[in-house]
Amino acid sequence: MDFLPEKINDYVEKHSQPEPELLQRLNRETWQKQLQPRMLSGHLQGRVLSMLSKLIRPQHILEIGTYTGYSALCLAEGMQENGELHTIDINEELYDFQRKYFDESPFGKQIFQHLGNALEIIPKLEKTFDLVFIDADKNNYPNYLEIILPKLKKGSVILSDNVLWSGKVVEDLKEDDEDTKALLQYNKLLNEHPKLETVILPIRDGLAISRVL
Ligand SMILES: C[S@@+](CC[C@H](N)C(=O)[O-])C[C@H]1O[C@@H](n2cnc3c(N)ncnc32)[C@H](O)[C@@H]1O
Repeated sequence: MDFLPEKINDYVEKHSQPEPELLQRLNRETWQKQLQPRMLSGHLQGRVLSMLSKLIRPQHILEIGTYTGYSALCLAEGMQENGELHTIDINEELYDFQRKYFDESPFGKQIFQHLGNALEIIPKLEKTFDLVFIDADKNNYPNYLEIILPKLKKGSVILSDNVLWSGKVVEDLKEDDEDTKALLQYNKLLNEHPKLETVILPIRDGLAISRVL
């Protein structure tokens, strides 16, 4: 869900950096060929990810939830010249689609795809990350936080997508709604964690920015 009214969203997009041509194509092909194309970050959130990455200038980026590679390419725009972006997805059918676009970008050799369950892959990555984007299965967000924290340092940034979950985080909770339960727990964790400082931006479906203290 988008929280901004359509007219405001259009105005904001028109007065922000345009969506790069490669990402326009990726966006279009995702809508033509893939299931659940609404999962892709899109123009406005993509430009926000790109801008944040350019401000942080990360050496090592970790993304949990690649989908068709849109957000990975946005985050890569801010990476240092010799930086690396590691992105994880459990769906092997997306692998070649992602690679095609990564190789068309200037960052192809710096983007490393990992295929499998992020909970199993992350502990094997022997790296310290400056920037992490969490955008996979919502019920595991608290688990992702637990396993990435030891791989971060002071000043590292965690971006978490969908933290407002179509507004369900402020509605009556349904007993069987495990995703909303996990996001409520996760947002509380981000807000109360002694090692994190967090702000939630109500863009798209809610994007949390957390800085490691
Ligand atoms: C919302 S999409 C990611 C969208 C992408 N970050 C973007 O903005 O363009 C979520 C992705 O997480 C992947 N995913 C779900 N559970 C996962 C898991 N346990 N480990 C790794 N990837 C997972 C799905 O296959 C899906 O492609």
